[in-house]
Amino acid sequence: MKLLLIGSGGREHTLAWKFMQSPLCKQLFIAPGNAGTALCGTNLQIDITHFESLATACIVNAIDMVIVGPEEPLVKGIYDFFKNRKGLENIKVIGPSKAASQLEGSKAFAKAFMIRHHIPTAAYGEFTADKYLEGVAYIKKQSLPIVLKADGLAAGKGVLICQNHLEACSEFELMLLRSKFGEAGNKVVVEAFLKGIELSIFVLTDGENYVLLPEAKDYKRIGEADAGLNTGGMGAVSPLPFVTEAFLQKVKEKIIEPTIAGLKKDKLDYKGFIFFGLMNDGGEPNVIEYNCRMGDPETEVVIPRIKNDLVELMLATAEQRLHEIKIETDERAVATVVAVSGGYPGEYEKGKMINGLQDPVLQNSIIFHSGTKKEGKDTVTNGGRVLAVTSFGGNITEAVEQSNRMLEQLDFEGMYYRSDIGYEFNIL
Ligand code: AMP
Ligand code: GLY
Repeated sequence: MKLLLIGSGGREHTLAWKFMQSPLCKQLFIAPGNAGTALCGTNLQIDITHFESLATACIVNAIDMVIVGPEEPLVKGIYDFFKNRKGLENIKVIGPSKAASQLEGSKAFAKAFMIRHHIPTAAYGEFTADKYLEGVAYIKKQSLPIVLKADGLAAGKGVLICQNHLEACSEFELMLLRSKFGEAGNKVVVEAFLKGIELSIFVLTDGENYVLLPEAKDYKRIGEADAGLNTGGMGAVSPLPFVTEAFLQKVKEKIIEPTIAGLKKDKLDYKGFIFFGLMNDGGEPNVIEYNCRMGDPETEVVIPRIKNDLVELMLATAEQRLHEIKIETDERAVATVVAVSGGYPGEYEKGKMINGLQDPVLQNSIIFHSGTKKEGKDTVTNGGRVLAVTSFGGNITEAVEQSNRMLEQLDFEGMYYRSDIGYEFNIL
């Protein structure tokens, strides 16, 4: 098969690395990709939201299947574009329809979906500018802390956890009346704070069946011990010692299965990954959010733990045969540690030469590229998150230490990484 993978992050390098190992993969294209994906296939310099150009590339390269990494093209309707376009309808697209992608594209849509299908989540209210005063009155009645969420996509920045009512009301005004998050904040979800331990669960669904993939936990804060600003993710680990068989059973019964049944009942076409952001409160799972794609950097630990042929999994998804698949997982612990540009998640410079990539002296590690590109013979930084170093170990601590050792041998100006990924599972 000839595949086109859409995206350019560590998630896409990981997927490309895994696709390349499949005997079913005859040729792999990545749009636009990065210096890492260029080692797995052919990068195509195409804007991921320019569907016409992606369609032309599919025809020119006789693509059989398109796999969509990030949320933006999904929320903008790439699945529907291919399905409805004459000449493209035979190309399999892995990713949900535009309507189903609203599970990530609109927090209010996701909340209404969960309430409708009795999926456990925090109590909430939703408000537009014309309901501003109603919203203020609602906020004042809630217990603290209180969570405000811009309805639309806000590049991971649209969630605020407020410790008092004054702060919540002033942020509410900034979002709703002063466009703090642009159009994404035209509607605001006000939500009760969930306590517990956060984790991510992933499934692959064909709309009828699903397979459960390894769970993961990511580390969003820039600083060690989870201090400082939120980022796209500074590292991730899998498996999680507190995810027991009994907990997973609850997640399946209360969350995954009602979600898939709900999608079907609501006629929301969904063939792809679902990412459940969960809070485990003393063994009881609640949904914080849905994402209509894999996570990044969670992919960098989840995919390496899957022993199955990923192209076969994609094919079974497209052909609604996931009930035939049994997921085989590597029992070893896996960690990824992300090296970022100096200044990230604020302003940072690009174009810094990356040294040490040619000498993968340690075994059991894989260097996945995020924001990188080739400049002549050099590989240079091209984003905030630059590299994700994934390692296997007998336990999480070993895996993280292995990644940290690997990172000591890599270098670019301003490089920073957290050395404490997985700290709460430290057993040494
Ligand atoms: P989201 O953009 O929905 O992933 O939210 C960003 C982060 O905010 C989540 O990963 C959680 O850590 C936190 N968060 C969001 N909603 C809640 C909630 N209702 N209770 C507690 N924490 C939350
Ligand atoms: N690491 C969180 C995300 O991909 O949304």
